Amino acid sequence: MKENNSDQILAIIDFIKSIYGNNNFIPLHQPKFIGNEKKYLNECIDSTFVSSVGKFVDEFEKKIAEYIGVKYAIATTNGTSALHVSLILAEVDSNSEVITQPFTFVATCNAINYCNAKPIFIDVEKDTMGLSPSALKSFLVNNTVVNNQKCINKKTGKVIKACVPMHTYGHPCRIDKIKEICDEHCIFLIEDAAESIGSFYKNQHLGTFGQLGIISFNGNKIITSGGGGCIITSNESFAKKAKHLTTTAKVFHKWEYNHDTVGYNYRMPNLNAALLVGQIEKLNDFILNKRNLASKYETFFKGTEYEFFKEPKNSKSNYWLNSIILKNKTQRDQFLEETNLNGIMTRPIWTLMNKLPMFRKAQYHDLKNSVWLDKRVVNIPSSITDFKS
Ligand SMILES: Cc1ncc(COP(=O)(O)O)c(C=O)c1O
Repeated sequence: MKENNSDQILAIIDFIKSIYGNNNFIPLHQPKFIGNEKKYLNECIDSTFVSSVGKFVDEFEKKIAEYIGVKYAIATTNGTSALHVSLILAEVDSNSEVITQPFTFVATCNAINYCNAKPIFIDVEKDTMGLSPSALKSFLVNNTVVNNQKCINKKTGKVIKACVPMHTYGHPCRIDKIKEICDEHCIFLIEDAAESIGSFYKNQHLGTFGQLGIISFNGNKIITSGGGGCIITSNESFAKKAKHLTTTAKVFHKWEYNHDTVGYNYRMPNLNAALLVGQIEKLNDFILNKRNLASKYETFFKGTEYEFFKEPKNSKSNYWLNSIILKNKTQRDQFLEETNLNGIMTRPIWTLMNKLPMFRKAQYHDLKNSVWLDKRVVNIPSSITDFKS
C-alpha cells in the first residue's frame, strides 16, 4: 500500500469495520457474555449471598488457580487492591523503593504510593514493551549494593524492596531474566499481570514467575467480573496472609469480631465472582478468538507502512490490546484524530509515569525506548469478534 497517510487510514477504518460491522462506534475492548453468566447471577441473587461470602468466590479461586497452574488464587475487589496487598506482603513501606517501568497504567504506581514507598523507573524494551532486563541489571550494578540480603540504593540509602514489571497489553516481558536479576540482588518480584490472563512465556502462565503475581478482571479485560482481580502465588504462607489482609484481618471465631492487624475490605463479592465463573468457562474460546483476530490484523498490516506489534519470542500472548507502531508522533496523532472522528476508538499509550505530577520527582534512568514507543504506539479495537467469523 503506497497511498498517503489519509488513504491508508481510510483503508484501516474499512478493514476494522469489516471485522466489527459498520457501527457508529467501535470500542477498544468490550466484554462478551455468551455463557452461563445470567444463570449464575440469578443463582447468586436467589441465594442472597451477594457479598464477599459465597460459593462463587471460592469456585472462582479454584478454577482460576487451576487454569493458571498455580497453587493459590486470592480473589480481590480489583487489580489495584491485589497490587496493594502484594506490596504489603513484600514488606514495602515508607523506607522502601520499588522498581517498575514508566510505560504502565497508573495503578501500578498508585499501589506503590499507597505503601508510602517511592517508585524508580527503568526503561522497557522495544520488542516486548515490558521492563528491560539489561536496563535493570545496569541500574542495579551501577547504583546499588547488597548488604545483609538487602538491596540498598547508593543515592538515597533506601532499600529497594520489590520490582514490579508489567506484561504490557498481555505480551510477556523477559520475565525469567528479570527473576534471575531480582534474585541476585535480593529483590522481591511481583508481576503486574493485570492484562495477561491466558498469556504464557516459555509455556508458563504470566504472574507465576515471581513470588506473587496479580491479574485484573476489570470490564475492559478479556474476562470480567465487572470489577475484580486476584493475587496468585504458590507460596502457602503468602496465600494465607493475602486472604487474611483482604478480609479485614478478621480472626476466625464463631461469633466474636476480632481483627489482629489493620486489614482491608478487598475481597471480591460473590455477585462479581458469579459473573466471572461464567466467563472462565469461555476463556479458552476467547483466547483463540483473540489470537485469530491478531493474525488477521498482522496479515492486513503487512500491506501497509504501519508495523503490527507481534508477540515476543518464546511467548504465547493473549493479544489483549492489539497495537500498531507508527512512523512518528505526527503520523500517530493524525491516525488518532481520523480514527476517533470516524467512531473507531483508538488510543495512544498511557502518559509515561515519570511525566505525571505525583511521580515526576521519582528517580529514573535513560528511558529512551519508553519515549520512542510513547510517540508511536497506538491501540486499535481488540474486542472478541463474532464467533462465526
Ligand atoms: C497494568 C495494570 N495494572 C493494574 C491495573 C489495575 O487493575 P484494576 O483496574 O482491576 O484495579 C490495570 C488495569 O486495569 C492495568 O492495566
